[in-house]
Amino acid sequence: MNSNNIKEILLTELQIKNKVRELGKEISQDYQGKDLVLVGILKGAICFFSDLMREMQIPVNVDFMAVSSYGNASQTSGAVRILKDLDISVEGRHVLIVEDIVDTGLTLTYLKHNLRARKPSSIKVVALLDKPDRRLVDEKPDYLGFTIPDEFVVGYGIDYAEQYRSLPYVAVLAPAVYQHK
Ligand code: IMP
Ligand code: MG
Repeated sequence: MNSNNIKEILLTELQIKNKVRELGKEISQDYQGKDLVLVGILKGAICFFSDLMREMQIPVNVDFMAVSSYGNASQTSGAVRILKDLDISVEGRHVLIVEDIVDTGLTLTYLKHNLRARKPSSIKVVALLDKPDRRLVDEKPDYLGFTIPDEFVVGYGIDYAEQYRSLPYVAVLAPAVYQHK
């Protein structure tokens, strides 16, 4: 990886770690005594998901969904498609969707609508990052790590064209990287 492709580090490993610990504590308190299923949205949420589940102080079940959103472009198509569905049933259980970023909000609208049909007791969302400037629909995560400006970010699971996911921090990608494609 060429480090010149990174414009700046937005969130350090320590900032993320502290925030994820806080979220784990708060969510554990709210779901005490409840049958909770953490639904991670692949692949962007992998780091956030695996850190958050280890900060949970109550028993949880985990499962994953994969949906298409960006492909290889930095703009959303608006079309959402399920690439991998849940393995377990969420009927009568409490679902917490674990997302990397809420951007336009279209993915969340689709996911909530889709999961609601499976009759869970509740559906809420925890997102690591929120870019409210780009919202097209009225969606808001119930639990949030950080609000960030309208810039394209990578790292901590989040990619550009399947690259940069393994960076341990969240960084702003230099615009030249995607403008010359
Ligand atoms: P939405 O449907 O526009 O809210 O898109 C949300 C999804 O788009 C996120 O889960 C990410 O996978 C992707 N996304 C949004 N912003 C960024 C970004 O800055 N970098 C990488 N992926 C992003
Ligand atoms: Mg995603």
